[in-house]
Amino acid sequence: MIQFDVSHAASFLPPDWLSGRTAALEQARVMLEEGNGPGGDYTGWVHLPRDYDKEEFARIQAAAQRIRSNSQALVVIGIGGSYLGARAVVELLNSPNFNLTHKDGPAIYFAGNGLSSDAMLEIIDLIKDKDWSINVISKSGTTTEPAVAFRIFKALLEEKYGKQEARKRIYATTDAHKGALKGLADAEGYEEFVVPDAVGGRYSVLTAVGLLPIACAGVDLNALMEGAQEAMEALSISGTDNPAWQYAAARHALYTTGRKVEILAGYEPSFRFFGEWWKQLFGESEGKEHKGLFPASVEFTADLHSMGQYIQQGERLMLETVVRFAKSHGSVTIPHDPDNVDGLNFLAGKDLSFVAEQAMRGTLLAHVDGGVPNLTVTVPGRDAKSVGALIYFFEYACGLSGYLLGVNPFDQPGVEAYKNNMYALLGKPGYEDRRAELEARLK
Ligand code: PA5
Repeated sequence: MIQFDVSHAASFLPPDWLSGRTAALEQARVMLEEGNGPGGDYTGWVHLPRDYDKEEFARIQAAAQRIRSNSQALVVIGIGGSYLGARAVVELLNSPNFNLTHKDGPAIYFAGNGLSSDAMLEIIDLIKDKDWSINVISKSGTTTEPAVAFRIFKALLEEKYGKQEARKRIYATTDAHKGALKGLADAEGYEEFVVPDAVGGRYSVLTAVGLLPIACAGVDLNALMEGAQEAMEALSISGTDNPAWQYAAARHALYTTGRKVEILAGYEPSFRFFGEWWKQLFGESEGKEHKGLFPASVEFTADLHSMGQYIQQGERLMLETVVRFAKSHGSVTIPHDPDNVDGLNFLAGKDLSFVAEQAMRGTLLAHVDGGVPNLTVTVPGRDAKSVGALIYFFEYACGLSGYLLGVNPFDQPGVEAYKNNMYALLGKPGYEDRRAELEARLK
């Protein structure tokens, strides 16, 4: 279903780029399948598309139905892995303008993914005259950004509906047993959904973390999971024709021969947040021990008129992975103009997607000629089943890639550094010494 093409990177790859890695790929495959490699406790996502909790899945769909019927807006509170997957899928399957274009169900506002007062005030203003609900998502239940946002939105919801009714409009997605959010949800009687222990944030989009907001956007969850399951079955098989093996091997070979940056390129504006999700997936999984490709993303053709210059002629440090969708949702025909002042009549009667296809093909060759290896991932369409498969393809390839690189792809020790400094500077009890030290350095 997902096709991978390495032919436009072939001239940059050593002859044994794949054959020289099959043993390591097989070892990585077994570690993922059996959960016995580094970080193996967090490989619960590997068989999730088949083994997911069906009872909870039905509850997610029922809750989404309720939210769709009683809310004009849904505030989804979460950050990082508790945010990006849902936004990526909602936008990719619809539009970055989802809140303007959706026909039924609630507008979806993502909050708690930063600390901007102005961004929060904007959401508060947008929802104030609407009926709305909250889905608060935090595995740890203690992450500052969503916890602060939840406190604020919870107070607003209680002010609007009263405590009793507000409780029925709050859906908490968190750990099954522990954490501040779990304690609060239990005490208040919110409907709860679980972030499974064995699934880390960036691999959690196909759990309740992603599925509840995605269902609220009207997406067919069964199709999404079906696509992921088909990909799971196809990608678990050993062999050099496995597209996840090819992708992991190609990017690893390019990395070890000097490439430092991987650019994910899409041609659909709705793909932007999928790129953000992909950046977290690969950046947090590989970027450790001073290793790993730096993941970047671009939106073509817009960025061909800005970053295109650097990609074509700047420092030769990147590889490019292009994600193309085989078909558009609709079609736009370029009209004939009798005056032809713009000289575009040679395109009259052609579909805009034909122009896009030629832009994509021309860019591919230009970038290869400029010294940028191009990998291509082709997805049948922007439909739920294909996107489910695409998510799983990247997750599985990321797991393989981390093991090829020799790192634990499922931890993220580096994200603690800023948190500890922030806690100290905020005056959190227990951080007094660190606070004094940091304040002195910041003087
Ligand atoms: O991938 C990760 O682990 C992070 O991005 C987390 O998802 C993010 O920090 C949010 O954590 P939590 O869900 O505990 O609030």
